[in-house]
Amino acid sequence: MPERRRPYVAGNWKMHKTVAETAAYMDELKRVLPADPPADVGVCVPFTALAAAVEAARGTAIKVCAQNMHQQAQGAYTGEISAPMLVELAVNGVVLGHSERRQYNCETDRALQDKVPAALAAGLEPILCVGETEEERDGGETERRLRHQVQEALEKVPPEQLGDVVIAYEPVWAIGTGRVATAAQAQEAIAFIRALVGDRSKEAAERVRVLYGGSVKPDNAAEILSQPDVDGALVGGASLDPNDLAAIVAACG
Ligand code: PGA
Repeated sequence: MPERRRPYVAGNWKMHKTVAETAAYMDELKRVLPADPPADVGVCVPFTALAAAVEAARGTAIKVCAQNMHQQAQGAYTGEISAPMLVELAVNGVVLGHSERRQYNCETDRALQDKVPAALAAGLEPILCVGETEEERDGGETERRLRHQVQEALEKVPPEQLGDVVIAYEPVWAIGTGRVATAAQAQEAIAFIRALVGDRSKEAAERVRVLYGGSVKPDNAAEILSQPDVDGALVGGASLDPNDLAAIVAACG
């Protein structure tokens, strides 16, 4: 029997919180989290708040992640941030391919193909986001879309490293809408994503953590997190309150 995957609950703050607000948030999060939480806990914070979040998380198990990264280590890419810059700040991971970046910032599967291995090579844990739009779901295109996103983004990751990637299944129609996927929808899509990883490596499929994201709140988390293939949650709006994030972590227990 393979070891149970440890759940992971990551809060995606998006474009919220100044340095001062970050320090206050982290104080509160440390106060409300139990000493031995039933899940890994992470916060994905704006670039400007990374140093403050890392400082506040020192000596705790809280992971600090960036929300994007360029695939090159350096170069003429105005406004971009590279993996070595994040590593220097002792950041633990990075969200890649969030649907808001795909929608508003021209993030492509082609760039993700280089971003995911670049993060891994630098020692950053990538949280790769995938998910279909409402139109794609209604048109019966969910699996085709997920297959394309997962296969393309992971194409250059060697099989033995696939299990180190965290994947977040985030149906676009559920993000920030209050319309959470049903537990059955989340389980079905996440089992499909795990099977796609399994096409590359059976061992990686057992090990890879696949999270659900999209309107996760304290009152709906337990049902989704109880699904056998759902290994945690990427939480947007609700993560802005450390008490709500802690309540979602508790729902993993
Ligand atoms: P939401 O966002 O929880 O506010 O729906 C999730 C995400 O975008 O990661």
